[in-house]
Order: sequence, then C-alpha cells, then structure tokens
Amino acid sequence: MEKENKMEKIVSLCKRRGFVFQGSEIYGGLAGIFDYGPYGVELRHNIKQYFWQKFISEREDVYGMGAAILMPEKVWEASGHTQLFTDPLVECKICHERVRADQAEVISDHEKTHKNEKEKVGWTEPSTFNLLVGSKLGASEKTATQVYLRGEITQGVHVNFKNILDSMHPKLPFGLGQIGKAFRNEITPRDFLFRQREFEQMELQYYIKPNDEEGDKQYEYWKQFAFDWYLGLGFKKENLRWRQHAKDELAHYAKDAWDIEYNTPFAGWKEAWGVHHRKDWDLRRHSEYSKTDLSYYDEETKERFIPWDIECSGGVDRAFLFVLLEAYTEDELGGETRTYLKLSPKLAPVKVAVFPLLKNKPQLVEKAREIYKTLKKEFGAVEFDDNGNIGKRYRRQDEIGTPFCVTIDFDTLEKNEGVTVRDRDTGKQERISENNLVSYIKEKMV
Ligand code: GAP
Repeated sequence: MEKENKMEKIVSLCKRRGFVFQGSEIYGGLAGIFDYGPYGVELRHNIKQYFWQKFISEREDVYGMGAAILMPEKVWEASGHTQLFTDPLVECKICHERVRADQAEVISDHEKTHKNEKEKVGWTEPSTFNLLVGSKLGASEKTATQVYLRGEITQGVHVNFKNILDSMHPKLPFGLGQIGKAFRNEITPRDFLFRQREFEQMELQYYIKPNDEEGDKQYEYWKQFAFDWYLGLGFKKENLRWRQHAKDELAHYAKDAWDIEYNTPFAGWKEAWGVHHRKDWDLRRHSEYSKTDLSYYDEETKERFIPWDIECSGGVDRAFLFVLLEAYTEDELGGETRTYLKLSPKLAPVKVAVFPLLKNKPQLVEKAREIYKTLKKEFGAVEFDDNGNIGKRYRRQDEIGTPFCVTIDFDTLEKNEGVTVRDRDTGKQERISENNLVSYIKEKMV
C-alpha cells in the first residue's frame, strides 16, 4: 500500500463508517474542525479511558481534575501565552494566503498552486502570529471581559494548585491529571486530525521538590511511563521514537522537552506526545500575577518553596489518528482482499458483534437476541447484525475493528454445541459453549 494512500483511505473509512466528519459539513465545513460519529466517539472514549486508568485511577499519587475552557486574559498573560504563544507567519504576495513559515511542506505545496504564474511566488518577511482563540463575556460591549478559550489545558490545573493543597492536602510528589478541549488558531491546519484548531488533550502535571536530582529522576520516570503508555495503544516499537527539542525550539515554559514521535505514512516522523520539564515557570508566574501564594510547605524539612512541574501532554485526536494509521491493514482472507482495523480490543469501538446465521429463521434470531443481550450487559459496545450474508457481516465488522464475531447456527440450537467465535485477525472460528462465552471474551479483551 502506498504511504500517502493510506491516509486517504483512513479519511474515507472514517467518513463512510461513521468515525469522523468534517465540522459543519453541510455548510461547507470549517477548516481544522471535525465532528466525531458513533464509532469515533467510542474509540476516543476508549483512548481517554485508558489514559485515565493508567495515569490517574491506578495511582495513589495523582488526582483527576476538570477545569473550565474559558479563562480570563490575566491567566494567559501570566503563563506567557499572550506574548509568546506564536508561530511565524508569511503571506504570499500573489494571492495573499497566509501560511506557517517554518513548515517546508506547506510552503512548497502553496508554491505548486502558482506553478503556471509568470512570476515566482514572493513571500513577505515572517511576522509572529498569536494562536490563542479569544472571545468576550458579558452583555454589554463596554463592560465585557476579554477571555480566551484555553490554548493548552495545563493552566486550568496550575491555577487550582492552591485549591488542591487546601482541599486534598497532598504531599509532594503528586500529580493532577486532566482531559479536555484546547483551542489554537492554527495558521495552517492540515493532515486531517493531525493539526486542528479545536482538539482534545490528556495531561498530567506532576509536582516535585525543586532540585536537580529529583527533577532528573522524575523526568526520566515520566518519559518511560509515557512511552510505555503510548506503546500500549497498540504501536509497533519501531514506529515510535524519542526526539529532544533543540534549544531554539523549546516552548517558552520549558527547560527541557522530549517528544514521542510516530513514523506517519503521510509525512514521516511526527510529534505524538510531549514530556516537558516546566520547572517552576507556571506556579511562579501565577503567584506573581494573581498575588496569591502558590508555595508549598514541606513539613519534614520545614521549608517553603515553589514546586517544579514535570508535564506529560498528548493529543487525543492525534492518538486517534495514529492508532488508525497503525491498525489499518489490507490482506487476503479466503481468497478475497479485505480491509480490517487491527485495533487493540480495549480500544475497539465495538467489542463483539452477534449474528444469527439466517435472518428468516425465528428460533435462530431469538437465540441470537438472547445472547446479544447477555453480552451487551457485560461489554456495552456490542452490535446485533442480521443483514446480508455472514461473509458481508464479517467484512463490515472487520472494517471497524471488531475483535470478535459470535454466530448462532443450527448446531447451537439443535445439538447444544455452543456458538462460533470468529477472531478478526486470523479469521479462524472456535466453538465455545454458551456458559463460557463471557469469560472467553473477557480473557481476550486486553
Ligand atoms: N501543555 C503542553 C502542550 O500543550 P504541546 O506540545 O503544544 O504541549 C501537546 O501539545 C500535545 O497536544 C501534542 O503532542 C499533540 O499531541 C497535541 N496537539 C497540539 N497541537 C495540536 C493540534 N493543533 N491539533 C491536534 N493535536 C494537537
């Protein structure tokens, strides 16, 4: 399969099978904005659930958070975003389209659109463009307050640091994890879900004692933790790698930054996830700007200080896209070419599909419905399908990555021989007794 082609196939599958649609499509769409359909929300939910489980629920030292999207201007002045959250922008002197100056592929794609012009494309000098998306709150123009839709979900955590200390009384080191929408006025949104203007982030801010030894230890720990978590989404190890940010590329808040990159078929290695050493940047700045003491008192050493922050930050939508690119497979099965998503069962939007062998045999349908209800209670995302022949039903489920298809046939009814369970990846079927069906599937649902 050609590499470029794979991305096109994913975009088409996402639309055709109800995973992702262009935002407000019937009105012509909105660049960099996407809506998720029934299978898409399930897959997203499962990615987020896996984050929540590993980064928050299973740990004693991390609490969950749910901060608001709208925050006052002062927050973003303190965090440095109103001044420094910018990308370099250039304007084409022929058509006046504005694009990001630091993305060679964007520049070259734009130049191709003018290849028949007499003049060579002339670009303006780069200027800086702020990515924050603003709005006004309040009923009167005069008194309305300038607010921003958060450009990163991080600041909602930092501004609640004191609330968490006062309500939960945690001891360092401890973390605050969160999942939520972020908004950026990206100059050139592109590559489907890769660079959007509205997207979701999953993050951990892990507060530690402010010294280099502890900083280095925790930084290494969270890099490894994040990498293992990302691998757990179902990636081949050779398709992920680390890349350290060069000094001139570091975000204004970061002392050091490493990205987990994925080897994409559309543009080679691309950022999937960031681990950032933010030191005391955020808490110190919010202390100054809000005039609120955000220090921590260490009962053991009787010292008061501003903790450092090690951050793990990943995009839900980007993980969604990379998971689909990794899972998309074409092979030959039973002499036919088929497409299937080799999704980890814990991420699959539908866990099990249940089929009566024939639609027009009431006893088969009745039995299949009974089994469907039992499985649905247990696994939630279970589908019943009696449309078309069994082969077609398998193909439909393969295409959305359903790991198990259960068929009820005459041997189920007449010989009490249980049901067949078909494995998505091998196409092989096993007979499983009705009593063992739930535990059989549970065991494989990792
Ligand atoms: N709080 C740190 C932070 O926001 P970032 O590297 O700007 O760091 C973190 O973003 C992650 O959010 C990225 O690794 C990526 O997965 C995701 N992300 C960032 N911008 C995005 C965009 N425009 N569209 C989709 N995902 C994006």
